[in-house]
Amino acid sequence: MKQFFRDLSKNLYRYIAKPIFFKLSPDFAHSFMIKVSKVLQYILGINWLIHTLIVDNENTKDNKVDIEQKLAGVTYKGPVGLTAGFDKNLETVGMMKAVGFSFMEGGTITYKPYKGNPKPWFYRLPNSKSLVVNAGLANQGAPKILARLSKIKNKWHQDFPINISVGKTNCKENADEDCGINDYISTLKLLKNHPYVDAITLNISCPNVYGGEPFTTPRSIKKLLTEADKLDIKKPIWIKMPIDKTDAEFKELLDEIVKHKIAGVTISNLFKDRKKVELKDKLPDSVKGNLSGLPTQKRSNELIALTYKNYKDKLYISGVGGIFSAEDAYEKIKNGANLVQLITGVIFNGPQLPAQINHDLKTLLEKDGYSNIKEAIGSSFKKQSDIKSKK
Ligand SMILES: Cc1cc2nc3c(=O)[nH]c(=O)nc-3n(C[C@H](O)[C@H](O)[C@H](O)COP(=O)(O)O)c2cc1C
Repeated sequence: MKQFFRDLSKNLYRYIAKPIFFKLSPDFAHSFMIKVSKVLQYILGINWLIHTLIVDNENTKDNKVDIEQKLAGVTYKGPVGLTAGFDKNLETVGMMKAVGFSFMEGGTITYKPYKGNPKPWFYRLPNSKSLVVNAGLANQGAPKILARLSKIKNKWHQDFPINISVGKTNCKENADEDCGINDYISTLKLLKNHPYVDAITLNISCPNVYGGEPFTTPRSIKKLLTEADKLDIKKPIWIKMPIDKTDAEFKELLDEIVKHKIAGVTISNLFKDRKKVELKDKLPDSVKGNLSGLPTQKRSNELIALTYKNYKDKLYISGVGGIFSAEDAYEKIKNGANLVQLITGVIFNGPQLPAQINHDLKTLLEKDGYSNIKEAIGSSFKKQSDIKSKK
């Protein structure tokens, strides 16, 4: 029955909603989706109804594969989360749980509000399954957003971890390294004891800001993380990693990260160098911004594998970039990801996608003989004998 409603949602999206959305400007479509989700989620019973119709119930006897994990003290009912950037102001938390995400990364938020780069922020590449993004960390500012979060949290969200992505306010002064660090620290102080924030992600790799990506060298990240360590934050902290790095540069960053109080890395952010990816659409030079979706998939998978092989005992991995199906999510898990995140997939395939991925992932895990998702993490690199002995 749930598959019927997931298929219905998929087809309604594919044949009705998407053709309309894809005729509108992507900026309008994004703000429309946020507004609709924001209003819908407050209609009595609607979150429960959507969830009941499309999301598998964990407690049935047919549920042969356990996809729940506890990572750094936070319980994730499933591995699929909403990635940063869709809900910049934490306005749609209820709806994100309703459609089947098991957690969300809200933001990126910054200490001071920022209205965003000059519009348009987004440019669609339909044949390349990608968006060009140039929002520049637009958000309402940490104090306002966190005050809202305190109000919206209710019983519905209890088992839905909220991870807040933190950047530095996008302004000229913060191009200076010390000012930038102070800005991060001001937001971290607000998050440290916030009762409804389960985890924090330091977005060090937003490419669309004054001064570029400032904290993606070992020296600069050391400086930022040394200051963050001093706050003695008990919540798990993740780092959102850049994608445009060589293996050696990426490892240098990880070598520094593991020296600090960091639980995991989210791999990875948008692709900056558009010349390095093959696009099936024309992308005029006048369109500013960086690529999401399919163009990020391959390199994200490679960097997940690199991180798992070298740091699996020290860092959890959240894999993001180009997930459009359970097969794509499974690839990242087999390469070493504990969790996965997505957004472009939902824009191209519809809002039922997270629920569908959870369902299909269980089928894929079962087919490979696993009873628990943990057994599959990094399985591409485990010896066959190790995998069998775990079953
Ligand atoms: C519309 C949009 C806005 C984004 N904004 C942010 C952001 O504010 N912070 C961030 O860390 N990543 C941001 N990203 C990057 C995503 O979190 C993600 O790393 C990237 O899009 C790859 O995942 P995907 O292929 O599922 O979209 C944004 C992506 C999109 C498509």
